[in-house]
Order: sequence, then C-alpha cells, then structure tokens
Amino acid sequence: MVRSIRHDMLPQATADEASRQQFSVAFKQALNRGLRPSLGTVFETVVTPEWQKTHGHAPTNREEIREAMHANPTYRSWSSLARAAQEQMWVAVSDSIFRERERLAAKARELTAPERRRGSLTLDPDFVPPRGVTAVDIHLQTGGYAMDLGGGDVCAGAMYECGGNLYAFGQGLGKNDSKAAHVQRFIAERFPGFKPQRILDMGCSAGSASVPYAMAFPDAEVHAIDVGSGMLRYAHARAEALGVAVHFHQMDCAATTFPDRSFDLVVSHNAMHEISDATRLGMLRESRRLLRPGGVCIHQDVPLTFRGKTEFQKFDLGWDSHSNNEPFWEVYANADLVVDMKAAGFPTENTWVGNLPAAPGSLPWFVACGWMPA
Ligand SMILES: C[S@@+](CC[C@H](N)C(=O)[O-])C[C@H]1O[C@@H](n2cnc3c(N)ncnc32)[C@H](O)[C@@H]1O
Repeated sequence: MVRSIRHDMLPQATADEASRQQFSVAFKQALNRGLRPSLGTVFETVVTPEWQKTHGHAPTNREEIREAMHANPTYRSWSSLARAAQEQMWVAVSDSIFRERERLAAKARELTAPERRRGSLTLDPDFVPPRGVTAVDIHLQTGGYAMDLGGGDVCAGAMYECGGNLYAFGQGLGKNDSKAAHVQRFIAERFPGFKPQRILDMGCSAGSASVPYAMAFPDAEVHAIDVGSGMLRYAHARAEALGVAVHFHQMDCAATTFPDRSFDLVVSHNAMHEISDATRLGMLRESRRLLRPGGVCIHQDVPLTFRGKTEFQKFDLGWDSHSNNEPFWEVYANADLVVDMKAAGFPTENTWVGNLPAAPGSLPWFVACGWMPA
C-alpha cells in the first residue's frame, strides 16, 4: 500500500490552496536538500575558527555547537526558513481543512452511520490526553494532536494526514511504500506463516498504518488506539471510506484497558519519537502484557539515534527538538531499545532491534520487535 492513498475523507483543496501546498513542498525540498548539507562546511570553516578565537578550543559538545551556530547568520537564516516552511505547510493545509470543516464532519457521520459501518469508534468522555500531547502542538501541527472543535469534529485527523503527505514529499519520501508495508515484509520474512487473529496499532493518528493491517490480514480483528478524539473520528471515517473494519479506541498506549493476552500482533508506527521515556517504556510493557503466546510486537519509527554520531551530527539531528516542537525527538535519539525491550520483560533472545532494508526511495525504518514463546 502506498503512503498517499486517495479516499473520500480527504479535503478538496482549491487551486490556490493546492498551489500554496505545492510551494511549501518545493520550499522544504530546497531547504533540506539544497542548503542543509552545506551547514557542516559553515561549521568547519567559519563557526569553529570564530569560537576558537574566543574560547581557545573548538566547540566540544552539541550544546556548545548550538550556541556557536546560533551566532552565525547563515545558520540562523536557514533555521528560521526551515521553521517558517513548516509553519507555512500547516497554514496551507489548514486553509482547506477549516474551510471544509463542516463538510468533512458530515462526510464522517455518513461513512460511520450504524447501518453501513464495518468498524467502530469508542471515545472516552472522561479521558484526559497526556500533557506530552497537549502542552505543545507537536511538529507545529495546527491545533495539535488533541484538537477537538466539537460537533463531530475531524480536523485533527485531516490535518495529520494532509500535513503528513506534504511532509513526506518535502522529505523526498513521496508516494513510496507505507511504513506498514515495510513492517509487513519484515513479518513475512521473520515469521513466515504468522496469521494474527487480533491486531492492535498504538498511537494510530489518522489510521494510515492501521488500515494496511486490516487489508493484509482480512480475517483478523484490527484495533487501533490514540489519545485525540478528533484524530480518532477522522481515522474511523477514513477506514470506512477505504472499506475496511478497524475498531478505534481513545486510550493511552502505556495504560490500555484491554485484557491480558488479548492480541497476536501489537504494532506502533512513528509513535516512539513523540512520547516520553516513561510512556515509551509503558507502551513496551503494555505490549508484552497484551501479547498471547506466540504473539509478536513491532514498534517502528524513524532511524534516528545519537549512537555513533559526531557532536555536529547530533546537533544537526536535534534541530526538530529545539525548533520544530518535537519535545521527545532527542529523548528518542538517546534511547536504547535493546535495553528498553529487556526492561519491558522480553528476554534478549526474543527480541530483534535494528533498521529494515530501505525500499527504493524510502528510509531504512527502525524497528524494535519482541515475541512471546508459543
Ligand atoms: C506521529 S503520530 C503516529 C503516526 C501514525 N501511527 C501513522 O503511522 O500514521 C503519533 C501519535 O501518537 C499519539 N499519542 C501520543 N501519546 C500517546 C499515548 N500516550 N497513547 C496513545 N497515543 C499517543 C498522538 O496523538 C499521535 O496521533
């Protein structure tokens, strides 16, 4: 399944909105591919000699490098433009989504009407989304993950999917295989013949990864959880628009209310870099609790780690934490998933942690996988 699939829940951009969206992609590509690689040269040839003059030594760690680079006008200009490009991307998608807000809510009601729906949605009126999601608008997404404007609002989900599609093009990932497709190839190679009957997707956002599991394992019952109500309403309607049954629930991945040993396969996609150390560990422990004998959990994310990186590379990788409202980006880059999987109760011989082979035009996605003895 490709990343940017078309369906009836997508907002329809006007020609002006579409051209602003395309401009924001081109702007991001120019900044990422054109300018960013030259920042290393700026560091070596301009910033380091200047820091040396005043401090008597080169910047020694990523905090000193950040301070030194922030004094450099070339870096400051790039960083400001990169942040502006991200803000502009969200403004460009928000225009269509807020203009279409009522039509999208009505479409969601139609797609999820009791007489036609295949899956379900369970929202918890007492649920309080965690502070990690409400304190900042993660990666500057308009309104944040937990936005709910009332009246069956679905804007948060539409925002995540439309912004995510543009972001992927801006990063050059475009229309390539979805993250779930990569993980499904991993399952087929690593666990041949594995046929999960109950599947759980944690931190599902708009359900872009949940749906491919329902398609790949049509006999399985697929569940998906997230903390945002607007996100989940959209995800449910989107899955119905794509003709598959997924059961969505508003729950915290570190403390679900599913019974012990109730799933054969537990997955998450790109969630670990957006949660705290405690929540990530809680999610891994919860995965183990939920797995049946012979069950498998696979937590996929971006291949982001500080291990083996120079201090300049760490500084460069950390840009998202400091300038793109990603409070847990560096936390995740510092994490050791081998240690975490053990702490969650998976014996080392029942885990596999590493990068998947990159499909053409994609990233070598990282996975932490654990399995239960049959
Ligand atoms: C980057 S998005 C995940 C993307 C999605 N899995 C996909 O593949 O398209 C992270 C999601 O995790 C959710 N989230 C954050 N903290 C959570 C928690 N404690 N429990 C469940 N979901 C959480 C956010 O609301 C957000 O929708």
